[in-house]
Amino acid sequence: MTSPYGLDGRVALVTGATRGIGLAVAGALARAGARVCVTARDPEGVRRAAETLGGIGLPGSVADPAHLSALTEFTLDAFGRLDILVNNAATNQPYGPLMDADPDAWREAFTVNVESPLRLTQCAWRAWMREHGGTVINVCTEGATHVGPNVGAYGTSKAALLHLTRQLAGELAPRVRVNSVSPGLVRTEMARFVWEQGEDAVAAGLPLGRIGEPEDIAQAVLWLASDAARWITGTDLLVDGGTRVRAALPASGYAVHDHLRARGPATP
Ligand SMILES: NC(=O)c1ccc[n+]([C@@H]2O[C@H](COP(=O)([O-])OP(=O)(O)OC[C@H]3O[C@@H](n4cnc5c(N)ncnc54)[C@H](OP(=O)(O)O)[C@@H]3O)[C@@H](O)[C@H]2O)c1
Repeated sequence: MTSPYGLDGRVALVTGATRGIGLAVAGALARAGARVCVTARDPEGVRRAAETLGGIGLPGSVADPAHLSALTEFTLDAFGRLDILVNNAATNQPYGPLMDADPDAWREAFTVNVESPLRLTQCAWRAWMREHGGTVINVCTEGATHVGPNVGAYGTSKAALLHLTRQLAGELAPRVRVNSVSPGLVRTEMARFVWEQGEDAVAAGLPLGRIGEPEDIAQAVLWLASDAARWITGTDLLVDGGTRVRAALPASGYAVHDHLRARGPATP
């Protein structure tokens, strides 16, 4: 019997895939048999990631609608299909109290974190998935469902992405499954300002005793992208070392928030 986790013959497009979670996701999908196309802003990073993955890449910002159309065409021209879309690229700016949030930075956060996943899903839907089916996975955050110090813009935009995921799941069913994965603190560049100084405290406050690695998230995305998850749409999969059940630990404070509060609003 063929493994339900195999992705032979499938094509995946992953945004923000030159490092961190996106690179790990693209690697996991490629190892499962998918041909992958990656994007990010830094052309050298895209070239290196595509080479490492044995795939293709097109540099550009997901904030640029023209890039999203070009990316879809580029993937279809090269591989002839587009089965899996992973909206992973994001920004955690503006950082600080919302009363000080710069309107341009706020708009940029919503453009990158909410509007581009929608626009790229529209591109994939119109060009391939509406007719042939497919699956979309949005990388959200554990912080999308509760408030935290200095991360209000990021959290609000990711809460919108969470809702967008469910809305699209309803609108695109039954042809396309749409789900999200919500990571807790993961060892990447984006979160370096938290884990570099606060790792031991965060790990001690997590039931599973350590912060996340990009591969932890990649395995969850791989599973949701595979046929093993064929009856799942509109769901959010928390991959966070157990933050929701930390109240059972002797020290039940959330060290990520303690750290963010203590370091203040200076932009990381
Ligand atoms: N790390 C965590 O603790 C954590 C926790 C919860 C959720 N997440 C989510 O996980 C996802 C990946 O984050 P990460 O931690 O892996 O971040 P990361 O290590 O900073 O990587 C971000 C990737 O996205 C690309 N990127 C950033 N802005 C882009 C843009 N406008 N257009 C195209 N590509 C862009 C970056 O490359 P370029 O700079 O070259 O564009 C890079 O490849 C994000 O959605 C983030 O919100 C992370």
